[in-house]
Amino acid sequence: MNRAGRLFVLALVGALLLAGCGRNMAEQPRVGPLQATPFFADGSGNRAPLEGTVSRERGAIDPVFFTGQRDGGLVTELPIELTYDLLLRGQERYDIFCSMCHGYTGAGDGMVVRRGFPQPASFHDQRLLDASVGYYFNAMTNGFGRMYSYAGRIPAEDRWAIAAYVKALQLSQNATIDDVPADVRRALELEGTEGSIR
Ligand code: HEC
Repeated sequence: MNRAGRLFVLALVGALLLAGCGRNMAEQPRVGPLQATPFFADGSGNRAPLEGTVSRERGAIDPVFFTGQRDGGLVTELPIELTYDLLLRGQERYDIFCSMCHGYTGAGDGMVVRRGFPQPASFHDQRLLDASVGYYFNAMTNGFGRMYSYAGRIPAEDRWAIAAYVKALQLSQNATIDDVPADVRRALELEGTEGSIR
């Protein structure tokens, strides 16, 4: 047989062998999630993590961080350090996950609502101004009425960042000039003057 002939036979055999592969591998015996199996002594296809296994997710062994609750009540203080970066992260995540319904300012007038979705209460209503940071974490974690839970989509740390940002949003909408530190106020006043001269 010449070279071309040998290559042809090789390709043919290869093709036949490969064709045999796919189906058998796909259809071999296996255990799906949460399926029973006689293979393990306890009859369950699920294997529990080894005793003493610790989750690598941040705060995994801190129930307050994960539930937003302490002694059965919602926490009133952030369980993580409040930093400017945390607020920036919260703003970014809020704009991505919440603003389409709750609106960029939290007034409950996001685009989805303007298109007919049920309107949530404004975060600037007195009841929600009084609500603790834990209240917001809890609503995201467990859902609230028609709003589904965000626990599967937003990691706990980001849920805290968003909760902190909502509190900052509330402050921003209810701030007076007296809340601005004196030196910054002076700079703002100067800026204003320049603006009017120009
Ligand atoms: C698809 C629209 C939608 C999105 C997105 C959404 N929400 Fe909501 N949210 C609602 C609606 C509607 C309600 C009111 C539900 C009800 O009363 O049945 C609500 C209720 C709430 C409440 C409770 C308000 C109250 O009246 O006590 C909080 C807090 C809240 N949302 C926070 C958030 C945060 C934070 C995000 C982003 C992570 C978010 N929501 C994303 C629609 C949405």
